[in-house]
Amino acid sequence: MANRFYITTPLYYVNAPPHLGHAYTEIVSDCLARYHRLNGEEVWFLTGSDEHGQKIARAAESARLTPQAFVDQMIQPFQTLWRTLHVRYDDFIRTTESRHIRSVQAALQRLFDAHQLVKSIYTGWYCVPCETYWTSTDFSAEQLAQSVKTCANCQRPVEALEEEGYDLRLGGEAQQWLLHHLDTHPEFIVPETRRNEVRSLLERPLPEVLCVTRPVRRVGWGIPAPFDAHHVVYVWVDALLNYISAVGFPDDQQRLAHWWPADVHVIGKDILRHHAIYWPMLLHALGLELPHTILAHGWWTVGDVKMSKSRGNAVDPQAVVAEYGVDALRYFVLREVPFGHDGVFTEEALVKRFNADLANDVGNLHFRTLTMVEKYTSGRIPSAHQCERSPADEVLARLRQALPQTLERAMARYDFVAALEAILVAMNRANKFIEEQAPWTVAAASHTARLHGILWQLLETLRVTTLTLWPFIPHAAERMWQALGWAEPLWQATDQRTLAQRIETAMFHDGQRIQKGQPLFPRRELT
Ligand code: MSP
Repeated sequence: MANRFYITTPLYYVNAPPHLGHAYTEIVSDCLARYHRLNGEEVWFLTGSDEHGQKIARAAESARLTPQAFVDQMIQPFQTLWRTLHVRYDDFIRTTESRHIRSVQAALQRLFDAHQLVKSIYTGWYCVPCETYWTSTDFSAEQLAQSVKTCANCQRPVEALEEEGYDLRLGGEAQQWLLHHLDTHPEFIVPETRRNEVRSLLERPLPEVLCVTRPVRRVGWGIPAPFDAHHVVYVWVDALLNYISAVGFPDDQQRLAHWWPADVHVIGKDILRHHAIYWPMLLHALGLELPHTILAHGWWTVGDVKMSKSRGNAVDPQAVVAEYGVDALRYFVLREVPFGHDGVFTEEALVKRFNADLANDVGNLHFRTLTMVEKYTSGRIPSAHQCERSPADEVLARLRQALPQTLERAMARYDFVAALEAILVAMNRANKFIEEQAPWTVAAASHTARLHGILWQLLETLRVTTLTLWPFIPHAAERMWQALGWAEPLWQATDQRTLAQRIETAMFHDGQRIQKGQPLFPRRELT
């Protein structure tokens, strides 16, 4: 059996339509999922929506809808956007689905039965936009003295609370256990800056407990706690449990054992604490293994302010795609910002990147090569044995050969920039090769064998780079693959070859007919 790879995204709050930040998380996850699919692995890519809690209930109230009618309507723009972005997930879980509700209740009941939950009075503060509790240890002395306190995460005012709830213990032994896990599993939190952040949180005393329920009288919109009708499950606990509810917890043990623990939870750095502290603690209490890697990316900002709907600075990914195409957006976000860093989105930067890389390197190589194949060999791939080789071909051959391994190393480090750079270097070199070899002069001199040799080198480079571009810009890669003359899609679910095997075996056949089509990425001016 091929390796299995289970990857998840956060569940998005559906209180407002998605923006570029959400699109980024989804594109990164899809790119990783596709890379593993292309490598012949059995992939499960889970995404979904976070539909309970106060934030959603308040948004529904403003829209004068019941929470259920509101979320049913609000998931539409998310699912439509994922289709637009060519995000190919295997499952979309909604926290209001009965399969999830049953699973969350079973988890809570298990904790209750094992005497892991203690009923107590919670005194502290709550941030509704982040659905996060804060205690006095989270504020500076100056803030504590003020009547209005703000959330450490989003800087919006928090609400003071005193209410009854059920708590899971976090401090003491559990905290030491997690610290030890972090120190013995360097891959647990990536990148290292985020790992250090969590480490320093764990070095200080944590709040003693995580409150896992909320009183129904304050928060009506949630999953009822199975052991107490006056309480619902805290929305973060409800949402985090999706990672196991979607793969069979607790009824389908076989399925759960197949997929759990997850290989990668992709998240934004804003929800690191929830994933790197609360989630492991919950899993530990449930007797389940921890995910292999929590992969936290940075923020998309406008200027230096985090992009968000409530700040009114959100970039609409649908509008970007309508103007520049899906490949431009996917390529831009993956190539422009080193993974883990914050990125500034501007249309100028997108157009610049589009022209420099997609138009100049990818589009040019593709269209020039196919144009020459039309012109010099009547649209047919020359057969390898009729090709005259030259030492000048070596540079391209070497670049092609190195590509699968370079890609593998880069993707293992989640370094999308290095992966794309390696592919683009090969394509850029092939464009230079055209200038150096001047096939038009070779054709004018009727040196057919060498002409075929040049075309063959270019086509081979295109074949290999098209395959490797697929995880990043699948829409363009499929078009390029088809243009190279293959009738079947570049990737098929049943194929279990690794990328290196695919490169070695998906060879052109003699006389394969190309379909030139239109230029892929005509240069853009800023509109
Ligand atoms: N519902 C919770 C997650 C529960 S997971 C068990 C939540 N949802 S969210 O919709 O507010 O944010 C989800 C994710 O969207 C963030 O973690 C992050 O991945 C992404 N982003 C939202 N705004 C962003 C930016 N401005 N920039 C980059 N990504 C950001 O938190």
